[in-house]
This record gives sequence, C-alpha cells and structure tokens, in this order.
Amino acid sequence: MGAACKDDGNQSLTVTDNRTGKVYQIPITRNSIPATAFKAIKADPRTHWLTDRPEDETEQGLRVFDPAFQNTAVVESRITYIDGARGVLRHRGIPIEQLVEKSSFLETAYLIIYGQLPSGPSLKTFEDEVLHHTYLHQDVERNLATFRYDSHPMSILTSAFATLGAFAPEANPSLAGSKVYTNAASGNLEALKLMDKQILRIIGKAPTLAAAAYRVRQGRPFNRPPQGLSYTESLLYSMDHLSGTEYRPNPVFSNALDKLFIIHADHELNCSTATVLQAGSSLVDPYSAVAAGCAALYGPSHGGAAEACVRQLLEIGTPDNVPGFMAAVEKRERVLVGFGHRVYRNVDPRSTAIRKICDDVLKVTGKSPLLETALTLADLASKSEFMRSRQLYPNVDFFSGIIYYAMGIPLDFFPVLFAVPRCVGWLAHWRQSMLQRGGVKIWRPRQVYVGEGERDYVDVDARKESWGASVFDAPVQVTHGGDTMRNRLATYRDEAGKLHTRSRL
Ligand SMILES: CC(C)(COP(=O)(O)OP(=O)(O)OC[C@H]1O[C@@H](n2cnc3c(N)ncnc32)[C@H](O)[C@@H]1OP(=O)(O)O)[C@@H](O)C(=O)NCCC(=O)NCCS
Repeated sequence: MGAACKDDGNQSLTVTDNRTGKVYQIPITRNSIPATAFKAIKADPRTHWLTDRPEDETEQGLRVFDPAFQNTAVVESRITYIDGARGVLRHRGIPIEQLVEKSSFLETAYLIIYGQLPSGPSLKTFEDEVLHHTYLHQDVERNLATFRYDSHPMSILTSAFATLGAFAPEANPSLAGSKVYTNAASGNLEALKLMDKQILRIIGKAPTLAAAAYRVRQGRPFNRPPQGLSYTESLLYSMDHLSGTEYRPNPVFSNALDKLFIIHADHELNCSTATVLQAGSSLVDPYSAVAAGCAALYGPSHGGAAEACVRQLLEIGTPDNVPGFMAAVEKRERVLVGFGHRVYRNVDPRSTAIRKICDDVLKVTGKSPLLETALTLADLASKSEFMRSRQLYPNVDFFSGIIYYAMGIPLDFFPVLFAVPRCVGWLAHWRQSMLQRGGVKIWRPRQVYVGEGERDYVDVDARKESWGASVFDAPVQVTHGGDTMRNRLATYRDEAGKLHTRSRL
C-alpha cells in the first residue's frame, strides 16, 4: 500500500491488492477515504474459492472491519470538534472554556443546534419557547406515576421519552409520512416547523421528566413546572419544591447546574449520539430516537462514570486511606476512576472550568469527609509520577461526581443530569442528519460472518444430546421467582389436567 500522494492536485491513496496485483487509486478527502471505494477491490473469481468461504462474500469486494467504530467516520458534521491530543473542545468553533465562562445553557443549546450564537431577541424567543414547552400531558404524568419507587431513574426517563412520542402523532413519520422531517432539507417551512417544534418540546420537557423520575422514587406528587425561572432553576424547583410560595433554588446550585449542562451538552459522536443517529436513520420519530440515546447513555461505560467515581471514593473512605489506594494504583492493582480519558491525552478542557464550579458549590455546602478524600486524592494524583508520566488528569466525571454528591443528588440520578443537557447534542445531530442533502440513508453496518457454513436441518429425534455441549450453546436453567419451595412441594393438576406430584425440589 503506497503513501498518500498528490494526484492532479487531489490527494489519493494507492492500494495494491497482492491477491491480484491490481492497483487502485482511492481518493482522500479531508484526511478520510470512502469505505465504499474498497468494494471495487475484488479477488480473482477463478482462484479466491480455493481459500475463501462463500460467507466471506469475496465477490462483493473488500469490507472494512472496524469493531467498535475505532476508526470509522460515519457523518460529516459541523457541530463539535475535539482534538484529544491538544485538549481542545469547540462547539461550532467556539472553545468550551469561553462558553462555560460567558454563555448560558440555553444559549449554548441554540448555538449547538442552529450553528450561530443567537441575537438578543432570538435568544429571548428561544428561551421563552423552551420554557413554554415544559408541561406534560396529564396522561404522561399518570403514566410516570405508575413506576415503582425503586425504579432506576434512567429506566423512567428512557420510557418517558418514548411515551412522549405517543402524544405527538403528527410528529411521527410512520403516521404522518416518512418525509415529514427530510422534506426540511429543501427548505420546506412546514417540515422545518415540525422539526423545531419537537426539538423545543424535548428540550423543554426533559427537566420535567427528570424531576418526575426523581419524585416517583420519593413517593411525592409532581410539581407543575414553574414560571419565570431559568432552565436549571426550573429543574431544581420541580425536583425539590415541597410547600410554601415563591420557592427559589439556591443560585449557586442552579448556576453550577447551568454550567455543568453546557459542559455536557454535546461531545460529538459518542455512544449515545451515534445511537440516536442510528435509530434516526430509519426515519423513526425523534422521541424514539432520543429514548434510544437515553438507553445507550445509561450504560456504565458511558454515562455511569461520575457515579462509579463517587462509589470508589466511598470505598476509599477517609483521606488517610488515600496514600494506600494510590500505592495500589501505582502497582497497577487498581484504576483510579475519574482520571484519564480515551480521547483527551492532555488536560480535559472541561476539567479546569468544572474545578471552579466545584469550589463554588463546596463554599455553600461545606466539605464532607468524602469530599476531603476526593481533594486529597486529586492532590496526591497530581504529584504522582505514575499518573503524570501517563498524562492521567482528573476528567469531567471526577468533579461532576463530587459536585452532584455535594448537592445531595442520589448516585443513580447522576446519569439523568447527564441525559437532560445531552438531549441538545442528540437533537442537533439528528437535525443535521435530517437536513443533509441527498436524503437520509439508513445506517446498516456490515459484518464478518464467522459462523457455521450451510448445513442441513436434522429432525428432532435424530439430534444428539451432546448438542449444546458448552454452557454457551444452550439456555441455562433459570430460576423462577414465583416458584417457591412450598409450591414445589405441593401437588396440583395443571390447566391441561396433568397431575404434578412433589418431586420438583
Ligand atoms: C478513560 C480510560 C478508559 C481510557 O483508557 P485508555 O484510553 O485505554 O487508556 P490507556 O490504556 O491508553 O492508558 C495508558 C496507561 O495509563 C494507565 N491508566 C489509564 N487510566 C488510568 C486510571 N484511571 N488509573 C490508573 N491507571 C490508568 C493504563 O493502565 C496504562 O498504563 P500502562 O501504560 O502502564 O499500561 C481510562 O483512563 C480509565 O479507565 N479511566 C478510569 C475510568 C473513568 O474515569 N472513565 C470515565 C472517562 S470519561
């Protein structure tokens, strides 16, 4: 395979297929190559069957094997740029540090979704619109109230977004027409209106749903979203207000949340955003796509790191246990959760801003023993040669975990406070995908099939018991919660009239 070279002013890659000796020119655009170009690279049909199985689909051309999307770009995007090596994160070109310092969450949301900072009147209209879309249909409220008190709040939130979709049939391409959103790409105003209405609804209702998930678990009635409060004040009000009038959350907490929401609004093609785009590519309604994103975010490898970080701090306990824990980290027996990042190999650009938010919040809440432990850990880690030489700095989850904990947020509610602002990123990417020229192509990755070749069906009597020899090749025996020992020791006749005796212990 040759190196990238200039070809008539264009960059290209020269590839030699050593199976056939044929040479291919593959264009390079913006330092990327089109994966479909590899489909033209085919083995010699006269010889490939000597080595390849039919399932290798050799005649269809080369496939690009990239498990976990480690080096596959699936969209052209104008939204967010990350340079992990240099510690850069910019939304629509503006560095995150400037946004955290100068912007508000809803202004950043506008920027991320629509591409520009809004003028003063446009921002006011956008804020009013979002905050006028906070109310839920009372049937949605009733639905939310049926969750058990011990449901994980992300289960509730995920279901709630899907439920919202059932209340907007006009916004469902399966009912209203498959092009109701993609028509917007040609500037169709009705399609744009429909799209932006759903964006306002989802961003507006997200805090109300989050607060409902919080209140269900406390067995408390839901608050009606307040009027005249900011986005994050409204969320805190809906979560916390019990009685009395003119309830106002502490401004340090609402400001801290607002800045944390800016920090969490988008992070280009992370797992949940890719999930939203994958679901959205079938032209499903945006509520379902956002519910899918919520489900992906909920996984411990994605939205659960802040929670895992606090759990580790609780495990460490008091500050005097920190040196012992650090020693275990340096011996590579433990991993310091909340440090290091797959993309940022330098200081995470968000962590400096978040450190300041953390200080502000701790001034109001005071430091708990756990926070002393966290700060001792951060201090010791910054002096550790092991951590420094590997460029392992506190990541955004370390400080957000501490802030949420200091604010008295339950650990399993942390991902909810990630999902609410991330709706902005999901919807910005969804909108961008609906507006792409040439329409939306359904995302359908390929696979490398490594299973059985063709084989014949065997009648049941002729099958051997040894089939399913390994624990993975047959269902394991499961236990039945309702099948108590008393039931197993009882006798009864089932619906078919068969008598069951007491031999089932
Ligand atoms: C985020 C994370 C998964 C990135 O992992 P990665 O890209 O695979 O990092 P690497 O394996 O390249 O790490 C390089 C070295 O640092 C070490 N390392 C990385 N993160 C570490 C951590 N948090 N604590 C201790 N050692 C760590 C690795 O063991 C490796 O050491 P080695 O070179 O001696 O083998 C990893 O840093 C991690 O597990 N962090 C803790 C969990 C966390 O906070 N996740 C939230 C991320 S937003």
